Amino acid sequence: MLGQYRALWLNHTGDLEVIDQRYLPFEKHVRVLKTASDACEAIQDMTVRGAGVIGNVAAFGVYLAAREFAGDKQKITQAALNIRGARPTAVNLMWAVDKMLEVVKHSDDVVSDCKAEAIRQTDEDVKRTQAIGIIGTDIIESIMTDKKINQFNILTHCNAGWLAIVDSGSALAPIYEAQKRGIDIHVWVDETRPRNQGARLTAWELQDAGIKHTIIPDNTGGLLMQQGKVDMVITGADRVALNGDAANKIGTYLKALAAKDNDVPFYIALPINTFDFACENGVSDIEIEQRDQDEVHNMQGLNTAGDVEQVRITPLDSQAANYGFDVTPARLITGLITEKGVVEPNKKAIGKLK
Ligand code: MRU
Repeated sequence: MLGQYRALWLNHTGDLEVIDQRYLPFEKHVRVLKTASDACEAIQDMTVRGAGVIGNVAAFGVYLAAREFAGDKQKITQAALNIRGARPTAVNLMWAVDKMLEVVKHSDDVVSDCKAEAIRQTDEDVKRTQAIGIIGTDIIESIMTDKKINQFNILTHCNAGWLAIVDSGSALAPIYEAQKRGIDIHVWVDETRPRNQGARLTAWELQDAGIKHTIIPDNTGGLLMQQGKVDMVITGADRVALNGDAANKIGTYLKALAAKDNDVPFYIALPINTFDFACENGVSDIEIEQRDQDEVHNMQGLNTAGDVEQVRITPLDSQAANYGFDVTPARLITGLITEKGVVEPNKKAIGKLK
């Protein structure tokens, strides 16, 4: 069962193995990454995605570079910088590579020290997500007590589960913890066009875990909130600025607006290494990735014969825009659920975490 694995692990030869997320939920493939450019490519082509796992693969990518270049610090540094530039928005990527570069700079045994540091970073993420799960579920329980409800409906966007950050995810960590505590939880899963991380990955994780969920087209959340069918919105983040503005998958901002209008608590769950303390203002300063328009024009799915097939869904001559992320202003965020507790989305509170 894939769900019992991490999203990535080292095999017996020291190569990095990752779950190839491009094939889920239809097929289960593991991709072996042997070199730094393999790691870079896996991040760029979305074999791996999600801020935390991108950071982990980047860290192991630097270890692969150290192995490949037999400890040559100049070559390793160049390879690390290539990985650092693989995608622009998720700050965990830069955080992980910068930590690895510090190790490269000071180490006398680069291969072994890089390997140890990449393992350490990944193990730390496991602990962070466990803490986020516990703190987030305490919030769920207190909302249930206040509202005197026995079933909890939560809406999430994109995939911020164990495929995105080892081992419990960020947004999904409280959902997994709620299940452990016996809470009757149901998840509204935004499909998350164009790559459908919600419909494909979050739904796959939840059905694997036996958690009740319903996939909804991206534009449905507002209606459900008006009808009182959402008790809380929770998403992950790719980068949160010092002022509390949070970049996450495109469409998150619209959910936050609808949540504000309907008095639905809107939380962002993130480990501390998703804060960008150097970024004062998220809305104006966070770089938004723009991806290939083909991701909008084409959709992949199972055909009636049960084979995976890609089909074009737009007129052949139309242009499409493919912004990967948007930034939710801090004023729309109820709280930031971190491993250190719930943090208010403002400079004073976030500054204390540095
Ligand atoms: O483009 P992706 O799939 O890498 O985007 C992922 C997201 O936006 C997640 O919601 C975010 O990374 C949080 S996961 C820890």
